[in-house]
Amino acid sequence: MCGIIGFCGYLDAKDVLLKGLAELEYRGYDSAGIACFTKDGIKTIRAVGKVANLANRLPAELESGCGIGHTRWATHGGVSEQNAHPHSCGKVTLIHNGIIENYHELAKELEETGRLPVSQTDTEIAAMLIDSFYEGDALSAIKKAVSRLEGAYAFCILFSDQKDAIYCIRKGSPLVACQSEEGCVVASDMVALLRYSKEYFVLPEFQVAKLTKHSITVTDLDGEPVAPVMLGIHWDMSAAQKNGFKHYMLKEIHEQPEALRRTIAPRMKKGEFLLPDFTEDGIPDKLFLDAKRIVIAACGTAMHAGLIGKILMERLLRLPVSVEIASEFRYADPILDEHSLVILVSQSGETADTLAALRLAKEKGAKTLSVVNVKGSSIARESDYVLYTHAGPEIAVASTKAYTAQLAAFYLLVLRFAYSMGKLSEQEVSSYMEELAAVGGHMEQVLEQKDTIKELSKRLTPSHDLFFIGRSLDYALAAEGSIKLKEISYIHSEAYAAGELKHGTLSLITGGVPVIALATQEDVFPKMISNVKEVRARGAMVVLITKEDNNAAIEQGICSEHLIIPAGNDMFAPFSAAVYLQLIAYYTSMYRGLDVDQPRNLAKSVTVE
Ligand code: G6P
Repeated sequence: MCGIIGFCGYLDAKDVLLKGLAELEYRGYDSAGIACFTKDGIKTIRAVGKVANLANRLPAELESGCGIGHTRWATHGGVSEQNAHPHSCGKVTLIHNGIIENYHELAKELEETGRLPVSQTDTEIAAMLIDSFYEGDALSAIKKAVSRLEGAYAFCILFSDQKDAIYCIRKGSPLVACQSEEGCVVASDMVALLRYSKEYFVLPEFQVAKLTKHSITVTDLDGEPVAPVMLGIHWDMSAAQKNGFKHYMLKEIHEQPEALRRTIAPRMKKGEFLLPDFTEDGIPDKLFLDAKRIVIAACGTAMHAGLIGKILMERLLRLPVSVEIASEFRYADPILDEHSLVILVSQSGETADTLAALRLAKEKGAKTLSVVNVKGSSIARESDYVLYTHAGPEIAVASTKAYTAQLAAFYLLVLRFAYSMGKLSEQEVSSYMEELAAVGGHMEQVLEQKDTIKELSKRLTPSHDLFFIGRSLDYALAAEGSIKLKEISYIHSEAYAAGELKHGTLSLITGGVPVIALATQEDVFPKMISNVKEVRARGAMVVLITKEDNNAAIEQGICSEHLIIPAGNDMFAPFSAAVYLQLIAYYTSMYRGLDVDQPRNLAKSVTVE
């Protein structure tokens, strides 16, 4: 939530900030603003809406080598220019990502010192608080302010009498920084650093970074120097660009076979037989051998990947597994002990609720393993063990390649541990691994059906409601298909366990209502077909997805559209079926003329509760 960037160096600050904000825009796009040191002091410019609106407002003559920029996802206070960041008070101008929970109480105290806010934001109160403590010593003011702030924050702060310096501090919300010959950059995430450096560091919580044109110094709150831990950047600029695709989402859908290869290949060690190997990840077999219970905690699409993980684990490991929405789990006083393994799934590795779930699991003595895409992110750093998905940067708000890479991570884990627990033989694990290695090719075959999906999506465009139904793995996948469609097409949709339809939802199925029915699982195939007939009998427009080998079983007229995934073991069907669902969501949104990559009210990285 909210993208922040700061630059101090030898380039035109407004250019650097605008480029960075465009790259961080997926974190929020309600308003944007920058503040730069100029020869006439700090100049702040803000605009409602996207970064492009801000760009149109910037005077060409704005000359500066140091400034901060922000793209907002509104929390406290509506979407208005007044509430856009940066916010200023006295000598302080700052940008913020996070939520100050005790801002109301602080505002009352500050009112007594004559400081009255002009916006409705918690951020302005933070600016007022820091200013109230500032007497020329930035560190001391920050230290005093931090002792009063509750909640989560990443701040980049300018003090008007300290020209060309940016001070940064964080708690909870992310901040990363790098230095190059062109200057020093700080940002909410590494994507905005790619063009400047191949090395960066994560600012540790409660430590202060000071950026000047030629250096970044990090100290603790008492001024003691701290040496940050440098990390390598393995993504390049092109990975974060559209590369000829109309939208990031479409590009990322197409990148899936390659992303899967990057998840699977490093763990695919050829010995006498194929067995996933986590030696380089440092994940020991003991982790699963000791577990008596597994909990998967995550949010959104990552949680949906967990739904598939649960089915696989229960099926092959024969261990009890539950999937928990992280925002519920963290306040539910879960029953965990040293024999519990908690698996956190997160593309960004920064989702506030998932991070809190991780911390709670550790507090309760459980072992923690995270499945994360972004290297060095908070969840990755704080977990006992990490399995990186290596899917590359995902920019579209709607997650696609991160999801299928998370699925691949679950398959690898399950196959390795089913073998080490003696539940699968060498031959079985080897044959499953071959199937896993083939899913990228299957997804490519589905991608070739793009034109069919385009036509189908045109027909779905006027729908008000849409239902996804399935059983077993297909039901878990239906949940993902439904969120994908609703988040970018704004069509109301629901995922239903096909057998549950008759307990309520069937009353919503009337003539022409689209139902996307997933029937890729052999063991429940006849049951699924009965459910399809039930909705068909009520006039639904059925889109049926089956495996190639089930063609013969499909009766004439049972569906309006029949989509086929390549033949293979059912267990791996979610990969190629997911591509159909992603393409349906994508083209439906496109034909509705919507902003596919940046759907309204949403953001990619949810670093607030
Ligand atoms: C947001 C994104 C989703 C994502 C979820 C969890 O809602 O829009 O695409 O699945 O956060 O994010 P994470 O980074 O933890 O996977």
